[in-house]
Amino acid sequence: MAIIAKNCPHIKVTVVDISQKQIDKWNSDNLPIYEPGLDEIVKKYRGKNLFFSTDVDQEIRDADMIFVSVNTPTKIAGIGAGRASNIKNCELCARKIAEVSTTNKIVVEKSTVPVRTAHAMNRVLNANSKSSGVTFQILSNPEFLAEGTAVKDLTEPARVLIGGNQDEGGLAAIQALVDVYANWVPRERIITTNLWSSELSKLVANAFLAQRISSINSISALCEQTNADVSEVANAIGTDPRIGPKFLQSSVGFGGSCFQKDILNLVYLCESFNLPEVAAYWQQVVTMNEYQKTRFATNMIKKMFNTVTGKRICVFGFAFKKDTGDTRETASGTIIKIMLEEAAKCAVYDPKVTRDDMLLEFKYTHGIDHGTHERLDDLIMTETDPYAAAKGAHAICVMTEWDEFKSYDYEKIYAEMVKPAFIFDGRNILDHAKLRKIGFEVYAIGKTFEDVGISQV
Ligand code: UGA
Repeated sequence: MAIIAKNCPHIKVTVVDISQKQIDKWNSDNLPIYEPGLDEIVKKYRGKNLFFSTDVDQEIRDADMIFVSVNTPTKIAGIGAGRASNIKNCELCARKIAEVSTTNKIVVEKSTVPVRTAHAMNRVLNANSKSSGVTFQILSNPEFLAEGTAVKDLTEPARVLIGGNQDEGGLAAIQALVDVYANWVPRERIITTNLWSSELSKLVANAFLAQRISSINSISALCEQTNADVSEVANAIGTDPRIGPKFLQSSVGFGGSCFQKDILNLVYLCESFNLPEVAAYWQQVVTMNEYQKTRFATNMIKKMFNTVTGKRICVFGFAFKKDTGDTRETASGTIIKIMLEEAAKCAVYDPKVTRDDMLLEFKYTHGIDHGTHERLDDLIMTETDPYAAAKGAHAICVMTEWDEFKSYDYEKIYAEMVKPAFIFDGRNILDHAKLRKIGFEVYAIGKTFEDVGISQV
């Protein structure tokens, strides 16, 4: 919405939320999320044509177009628990819009939703309209931005996707939204489709991206057994323009609030439409990701003489990727959880993640909090200085690809660690040859530094 406000001075954009606390934060000097470049834009346009308010009813009444941008979390109970998305919040928005609208509205699904959610929204809107003659047009306009690069992704999107009904009213609504984006996005990058293609494309885009990561991660396991180097393999295959180089960075596993959730939702949809083979195919992307995380942690324990009990492990990075403070579903959390089960002591350093956010992630994703784990504060420590985190540690594991991790003084770090000093690079970002020269025992994803000794064939 900030980017729309920036590029469309003639449009008044108001973001509403029922949480006064959230809205107060958006109206304050400290915005509730960190995203490079966002602060400047919000502060520049706030109060001009960008507003934040809790007056939901009035703002709905005044709006021509309403973007429904609520969360659609994976269900935790009931039918489809653990896989299906809960679209309760979308339905509540539709009910509220129907209740208070006195003029025609274009309702835009911005949230990531299961295909055919627009059908449900449409029925709820039309069944609950209080004013006669008011019409609603539903559009699907999924968001493809990635965290950490959101401002850039929105300013120069690869494409904008808009789906709508293919009748006169639907096409007019599509055009109205095209006109908004056309203020800064070249027209040929604005794709229009029917509603269902647009809804489904969002899930499919994320499934394909995650599939590439799981594919290269599966190969990383094979590389470790054969002396092939996963970075060299990724580079070699990525130069084929049909494959392309992006999203082939092998890692300890993908995280974030989207990939796993969206794939599980896709799997659930396929099962609901009685397509078990298709469901099983996509399920494997998530299964491989889980395998990669467990494999990494198991390898750490194995290399450290099969025990980490009581050992201090320094964890570099808790965010699910660099340039964000977001910790949802981060692979770092899974690795620390496994270390916790082995009674290791983890000293975590992340340039952007607060201890509170880290503990929330343990609570929501792993069910671990002070109530379920009495030694939590004793076993998971947070440090604000990377050197302090590494001091006295038996091992460092790199969980997030923050650039600053590459430029530390590793001689200094080595001097203060317990020997042998291990480094497990879960992102393949460090200079492994240099580290080995210093004296570290280094392990990285999809790489072996000694000949694994397989016989020549
Ligand atoms: C992802 C998609 O990239 C966006 O297009 C989409 O809009 C968004 O989900 C969403 O549905 O909201 P995001 O989760 O912010 O964006 O981040 P990504 O850059 O896709 O990274 C996801 C995870 O994959 C991270 O943990 C990252 O470290 C990992 N990753 C990414 C790899 O392990 N290897 C790679 O080569 C690329």
